[in-house]
This record gives sequence, structure tokens and C-alpha cells, in this order.
Amino acid sequence: MITTRDLTKVYRSRGRDVTALDGVSLHVRPGEVYGVIGRSGAGKSTLVRCLNLLERPTSGTVTVDGRDLTALAGRGHRAGRPLRQARGGIGMIFQHFNLLSSRTAQGNVELPLEIQGLSRRERARKALELLDLVGLADRARAHPAQLSGGQKQRVGIARALAGDPKVLLSDEATSALDPETTRSVLRLLRDLNRQLGLTVLLITHEMDVVKAVCDSAALMENGRVTESGGVTELLATPGSRLAHELFPLGSAEPGPDRTVVDLTFHGEAAARPVISRLAREHGVDASIVNAAVERVGGRQVGRMRVELPGPAEKNAAPLAFLRDQGLTVELPGEGTR
Ligand SMILES: Nc1ncnc2c1ncn2[C@@H]1O[C@H](COP(=O)(O)OP(=O)(O)OP(=O)(O)O)[C@@H](O)[C@H]1O
Ligand SMILES: [Mg+2]
Repeated sequence: MITTRDLTKVYRSRGRDVTALDGVSLHVRPGEVYGVIGRSGAGKSTLVRCLNLLERPTSGTVTVDGRDLTALAGRGHRAGRPLRQARGGIGMIFQHFNLLSSRTAQGNVELPLEIQGLSRRERARKALELLDLVGLADRARAHPAQLSGGQKQRVGIARALAGDPKVLLSDEATSALDPETTRSVLRLLRDLNRQLGLTVLLITHEMDVVKAVCDSAALMENGRVTESGGVTELLATPGSRLAHELFPLGSAEPGPDRTVVDLTFHGEAAARPVISRLAREHGVDASIVNAAVERVGGRQVGRMRVELPGPAEKNAAPLAFLRDQGLTVELPGEGTR
């Protein structure tokens, strides 16, 4: 649904070049929720602005739903009709909602419908339908000042859906909301993704957002994508930075008297019976240092840190046993394999 190839963006500011995007190639499949995570300044907002050509990339291509937007953009500064049409298939929501304070919730949702040239009646019908979809049917006449942050973002989402987009871009849409409201807005995005088959690309600096709703994710650092893939697959990839941030187990200090082992397991393949079998069959007493089980991308995933007595060289057999049980085995502080 969204493909970028070797996207770069160089800003020239005060005679100095800032490379905000440095060869970004992304591939977002239809109907998935894709998270882009990274620290401040990593280039996330630049990426979304390039995806709908609000910002013109310095080089590279952006294809959305089979259309090469970079080719449609041409050379001029103003967007021509083909680009405006293609943009209609892309909705966008923002951290600070960007609602017009002078208009009611309904009036805000009607704005893009006015631009589309719908009649007054049609606009009202569609706006009310969209407000109902986001759970705000009873607040249609409220002004933004009378709405909570979560409600404002729901209006923003309804407005973004006015053009019946196939793609929704979200730039930190939950960053200004409290954790509970964040969860409910994410749940709404997830529902819309399922109900409408909407492809959602969301930018965030919060791992919890990725955990809660994303099927796939990419990590951005200094304008580059350094890791990407399915969230559950990334979790099972030894040495994955995203996995480590999703499930922080703290720093490890292996030594001559102990081997520190991080285990990742999926589904109901709980690690506990494996640990007791390790004791029974290999005579190794593993102590559990830290563990967490969470739902990621709709699946149960767990990580556990255990310590085995003795150095890694002496633990080859128990480590092989753990791998044979289908667990991903990492030795933090000793390299990953
Ligand atoms: N219009 C601009 N002119 C010059 N430099 C810019 C411009 N916009 C962004 N940059 C620079 O590009 C880099 C990436 O910025 P961007 O806003 O994309 O980061 P971000 O990942 O969205 O950060 P945050 O999490 O803080 O929103 C930064 O170094 C920033 O200073
Ligand atoms: Mg940003």
C-alpha cells in the first residue's frame, strides 16, 4: 500500500545541510498497522510529510496504492489535480488535532466534504455518520473547546476519514493524551483498521503504542531505517534493538560464575515447564531474574531472563536444550549467538 524507495530529504538551513531522511525504503502492506518509532530528530515527521508530498523529497520515490506520488508532483510548487486526487486517498491526523476552534465537531468534519463539493445535506449526513463511527454522535454540535483531548482526536480521525482514504497517517496522534485516553484512541484506530480495511501508518516515540496496535514496525535512527519487519518476528530476532526496547530486561553482567540467558517465547509455549525440565533432565538450576508476558500484535509473547551457574562455555548442553524447545536464546553481554 505504501512503498518508499531510497527516500532522502536534505534541508538547507542557514547555509548548512541537514539530512533528515537518508535512504529510507519502507514497505507497508495493505490493511496493516505499521509503526515507525524513533527518538526526537530521527526524521519521523519528515517521513510522513514526504509520504503525502506535503514535503518534496530530495530524491527517491513514494508509491501509495500503486501510484507514484513523486512522479505526480511534477516540478512546480503548487500541487496539480492528479496529486490532489491521490492525496484524497490519504488521511492524516496530528498530535495537536489541528481543529478549527470556530467550528463545531460536525463543522470540522464537514470541511473536507465542502472542498469535495458535496451538497449541504450530503455533508451533514456523511459528517454525522463519521462522528457516529468514532463514537461521538452525541457531540456533533460541540466546539473543540468543549471537548476533551481524546474527543478532539476522534473528531480529527472522523475528519481524516471524510475522503474515504485507504491510508491513514498519524504523526504522534496520542502524544498529547493521557495513557487511558491513548489506549482508547489506539483501540479506535485498530477497529477502523479492521472494519474498513484501512492501512494505518503511525509515527510514535512510545514503545507502548507499537506493542498495543502494530503488526509491523520500523526503527528510525538519524534519518535511516535500521530495523523493520513484523513485530512478533522482530521480537524473535536475536539482537534486535526493537525487541530490546519492547521488552527491556535491564543490563546483564555475566561472569565466570554465571551465564545470563534471555529467552523469548511465543504463544502458550510458556517457559516455566522448560525451566523445570532443565533442572530435571540436565541438573541445572536456572534462576529467573526477570520476566514479562504481553500481547504484541494480538499474540502472546514473553521474555524471560534466567541465570545458569557457571560460564557460558560450560553451559553448551543446557543452551542447546533451550534452543531445541523453540525458544529464542540470547546471551546478553556475550554477543548474541
Ligand atoms: N523545515 C526544516 N528545516 C530544516 N531542518 C528541518 C526541518 N524540519 C526538520 N528538520 C530537521 O530534520 C531532522 C528530522 O526532523 P523531524 O521533525 O523529522 O524529526 P522527528 O523524528 O519527527 O522528531 P520529533 O520526535 O521530535 O518529532 C531534525 O534534525 C530537524 O531539525
Ligand atoms: Mg516529529
